[in-house]
Amino acid sequence: MSTRITLHNDKKSIYDICIESSFDNLPRELGQLDISRRRLCIVSDSAVAGLYLNELEALLTSCAREVISFVFPAGEESKTLDTVRELYEHLILHQFDRKDLLIALGGGVTGDLAGFAAATYLRGIEFVQVPTTLLAQVDSSIGGKTGVDFSSYKNMVGAFHNPSLVYINLSVLSTLSERQYLSGLGEIVKYGLINDPSYYDWISCHIEEIRRRDPGTCEEMISGSCHIKQGIVEEDWKEQGERALLNFGHTLGHAIEKEMKFALLHGECVAIGSMAAAWLSCRRNLISEEDVHALRALFDSLGVPRSLKADEIDPKAVLNAVKHDKKMDAGSIRFILLGRIGQAYIETSVTEKELEDALSAVLD
Ligand SMILES: NC(=O)c1ccc[n+]([C@@H]2O[C@H](COP(=O)([O-])OP(=O)(O)OC[C@H]3O[C@@H](n4cnc5c(N)ncnc54)[C@H](O)[C@@H]3O)[C@@H](O)[C@H]2O)c1
Ligand SMILES: [Zn+2]
Repeated sequence: MSTRITLHNDKKSIYDICIESSFDNLPRELGQLDISRRRLCIVSDSAVAGLYLNELEALLTSCAREVISFVFPAGEESKTLDTVRELYEHLILHQFDRKDLLIALGGGVTGDLAGFAAATYLRGIEFVQVPTTLLAQVDSSIGGKTGVDFSSYKNMVGAFHNPSLVYINLSVLSTLSERQYLSGLGEIVKYGLINDPSYYDWISCHIEEIRRRDPGTCEEMISGSCHIKQGIVEEDWKEQGERALLNFGHTLGHAIEKEMKFALLHGECVAIGSMAAAWLSCRRNLISEEDVHALRALFDSLGVPRSLKADEIDPKAVLNAVKHDKKMDAGSIRFILLGRIGQAYIETSVTEKELEDALSAVLD
């Protein structure tokens, strides 16, 4: 089991995404980056390090000049400039120079943080993504967005910095909690909704295999999502246009995430936000009521939350958060709607009243 997806920019290959069932081929893939004379620093959070750091160190020690590690406490709270500063200090202490390389072993928090450190240390060093959550495997490890949170603002400080390789080991999904796995499915359903009706149908037809994390199904599902993200990113590396379609479900999703004080996971908020955006697309007669029912049924059968309890959240606060969100574009909200299932577009005419109604539609 092995799949390779190469991302291109103007026909030039930029990096590969390798989808594998173990870490066994990682030394060979890193060999392509000529690591024998370079130092490697494996960056990982405390939970992932406990599970996989020893295995990775054992595999890589003989391949590189030196292998060190940097472990930080797991959780979004660590995605800060303070942690980046500690990582810089660690790299300086070990005399890392511009030829050396970081390996981000973990979920989106690790990838974003290590990627940002790589983008800025000595004006930029190479890094490799080894994503270990479903969300990181299909989304955050691909596309070169890196960054950290600042005060209470998510991803406020960041840089575009492409990894040199994304190495996905599907077997690490076996240790991922059910909730984290289902959260990743929120982004996966989004890919089908915005870009590929046949992928959306494929998900609907493989519920049981997806839920039990059947390896073959996971490979097909993850490579399908990676292909969709590849197609969108290759057209718009710096998010100046169509890449914004990936923000489907995120305008309300981010605001809900913030107002729930991160008690809900990112993919859970994306699913709720997707439901609201689908509802609004239906209200504008772009998709049918049956489409909305089918999406609701799909989230339910996958086990992905798609609504909030009305007493859990203050809708006014959510709408205020939307207004302050960085997706506000010169005073108008760039909201992503569905023209049909499998095709999204950017709409700038969505009113506050429509947002309020869409939010009410996902409150029980
Ligand atoms: N850069 C991007 O394009 C992009 C896109 C989407 C999300 N993000 C960012 O990604 C972050 C969320 O990522 P996430 O959901 O992966 O969160 P995360 O990195 O915090 O991982 C979630 C939890 O799962 C644990 N974990 C990771 N892999 C595991 C495994 N295989 N087995 C057991 N436990 C494991 C982690 O220790 C952590 O506690 C957010 O900060 C978000 O802003 C970035
Ligand atoms: Zn997302």
